[in-house]
Amino acid sequence: MPATPTTPAVAPLLIAIEGIDGAGTTTQTERLRAWLEASGRPAHATREPSTGPVGRLIREVLAGQHAPFDKAALALLFAADRMDHVTREIEPALAAGRHVLTDRYYHSSFAYQTLDADGAWVRTLSARARRPDLTLLIDLPAEVAAERRRLAGRPDELFDALVTQRRVADAYRALARELSGSERIVVVPGDRPADAVFAALCVEVERVLAEVAPPARG
Ligand code: TMP
Repeated sequence: MPATPTTPAVAPLLIAIEGIDGAGTTTQTERLRAWLEASGRPAHATREPSTGPVGRLIREVLAGQHAPFDKAALALLFAADRMDHVTREIEPALAAGRHVLTDRYYHSSFAYQTLDADGAWVRTLSARARRPDLTLLIDLPAEVAAERRRLAGRPDELFDALVTQRRVADAYRALARELSGSERIVVVPGDRPADAVFAALCVEVERVLAEVAPPARG
């Protein structure tokens, strides 16, 4: 009897969604989760700063509750939160067979904390974090993102000054160019309707999924 062709098992993927404040990473992360689930692919959405104890402290710092707060200490908190997040939430979800979509990951630290701290040091802090299978960088002008935040009524946080956001946007673009040789990072234009951004993100996710589990030939 000929062997029955089997569909290759898909190893669950870790996908990071990145961008400046107002890029829409939170909305798109949730949409991607719902879309994967609806097509029978279990997925878990999460975010950084995480909901763990270090993440909660970071949220307080971002809201200005502990000002003044040392920027290098904040870089350490982001890295500590990431290690806890990976161990507590990301790895268990992957082990349970679910794709993990994280709204921000170590690229956020590389883009934001390097404004105030040495770049090599910031990167070393996250060197042990699992590498994502795909990073989606939603790229748009800082002015457009600022207007979106204003319309959404979001209160200003630590990094929200326009001049800072411009620098972060540039840092993300440079990062995407630099890291493209060592990891899979795709820049998706974000200055267009959310549905169009979402469609482009889905294409990239399907592409990487097809690579890890190519369609069975028959
Ligand atoms: P949020 O606006 O997506 O909730 O993210 C909170 C802020 O924290 C945002 O301004 C980006 C910033 N951030 C860093 O500076 N470094 C990091 O490593 C992470 C995860 C976020």
